[in-house]
Amino acid sequence: MSPVHIVILAAGKGTRMKSALPKVLHRVAGQPLIDHVLATAAVIRPQSTTVVIGHEAATLRAALGSHDGLNFVVQEPQLGTAHALLITEPILRDAKGTLLLLYGDVPLLTAETLKTLLERHESTRATATVVTAVVDDPYGYGRIVRSGEQIARIVEERDASSGERAIREINSGIYAFALDGLFDAVRSIAAQNSQNEYYLPDLVAVYRQRGLGVETVTVSNPDEIKGINSRRELAEVSRIVRQQKTAELMEQGVTIEDPATAYIDRDVTIGRDSVIHPGVSIEGRTTIGVGCEIHSGVRIADSALGDRVTVLDHCLITEARIGDDARVGPFAHLRKDADIRQHAHVGNFVELKKTVLGAGSKSMHLAYLGDATIGEKVNIGAGTITCNYDGANKHPTVIEDGAFIGSDTQLIAPVTVGKGAYVGTGTTIRENVPSGALAVSAGKQRNIEGWVERKKRV
Ligand code: UD1
Ligand code: CA
Repeated sequence: MSPVHIVILAAGKGTRMKSALPKVLHRVAGQPLIDHVLATAAVIRPQSTTVVIGHEAATLRAALGSHDGLNFVVQEPQLGTAHALLITEPILRDAKGTLLLLYGDVPLLTAETLKTLLERHESTRATATVVTAVVDDPYGYGRIVRSGEQIARIVEERDASSGERAIREINSGIYAFALDGLFDAVRSIAAQNSQNEYYLPDLVAVYRQRGLGVETVTVSNPDEIKGINSRRELAEVSRIVRQQKTAELMEQGVTIEDPATAYIDRDVTIGRDSVIHPGVSIEGRTTIGVGCEIHSGVRIADSALGDRVTVLDHCLITEARIGDDARVGPFAHLRKDADIRQHAHVGNFVELKKTVLGAGSKSMHLAYLGDATIGEKVNIGAGTITCNYDGANKHPTVIEDGAFIGSDTQLIAPVTVGKGAYVGTGTTIRENVPSGALAVSAGKQRNIEGWVERKKRV
């Protein structure tokens, strides 16, 4: 195979999105549109990848900063797709081989289709090869006009005759071009159309008139080449991506009770025999082990769950870890660096942040545990609060193995409760509790007999 250089067009304004955000940064399944395209492009192992930016160029460049080795060219003003390709000439002037042109707003395109396109382009020695699709509703797309079997030209919706509008074979806007002579040919395109724009599809007619070979590859699944122009199309494409992800997971042995309401990002992994109930969001780089059960209304992002973990309804779990056989929820909030170890239990209205809850430990009701290191087999009573913040700094709490923290306890950090110690109900812990001690701070209870009757008389 000859070397491949990729150009991704992403300079357009995306007017129909009605957004302050550049169109290609809108997310599908947790990732910006253009990241989907870059991931697919990377499979081809191109010699270079150049992104044409324009509208909101600085925002886009900053957002793509984490991708290594991308070239950027700024197209300002945006005079059409042919003009967009032409301004990459300074970067690609001396490049040899094939130029693969992609769009930043077409996220469903597969690497298989790109490989098919390159193979066809090479084997036919074409000057250009166009990816097409046959669709039920071709409205808005450029139409493929053929003479006999051969593609003759592409006509845009606005410039098409009523006869041409009836053609259901459309231009995907994705092409392979022989780099040799490409920019000179693009320069010959005129902006003679209803929009006075330089249309790259006009290159087909230019090449055919010169008697050069132009080939087509038709995708079997037209979804692949869906471009996103509006929020409605964004939602539609998101649905397709979700469907693909849930199908893949079910294929791998995960039960998804209602695929239509499972929102699972592309990079998420889930082990076999795990069960995902309806209305669950699993996002980012989350990993879930085997035999887990995730109940309804749960959102998990960038977290790692071990095997046989149960998450009961309505939990929010972000940047947290949960060990094997642990049980969380309902209504728990695990924040950054919550670390629930094996067989531990976290119950209703318990919030953990930057806290280890040791193996077999339990915090079943109404607690805030922050900046705490809690050992094994500890019982945290209902209403326990680590007072970790003094208004200026955060301080740590340590609760050693086997300790028992009575309900409604406040632990004023920094403080340590020793191994096996007991803290009585309603205690405010201001000093360390030695191992094996009982700490109590509440005063002796006093009952005032007959107080209620006397009060009523006054
Ligand atoms: C284009 C094709 C059409 C095809 C359709 C497929 C042209 C003239 N028409 O139409 O045949 O069926 O795609 O989706 O090419 N862009 C730039 N700079 C510009 C203009 C556009 O970078 O000056 C980028 C846009 O950001 C977008 C892509 O090129 O990613 C396509 O542009 P758009 O205006 O959406 O073209 P369509 O009208 O959809
Ligand atoms: Ca478009």
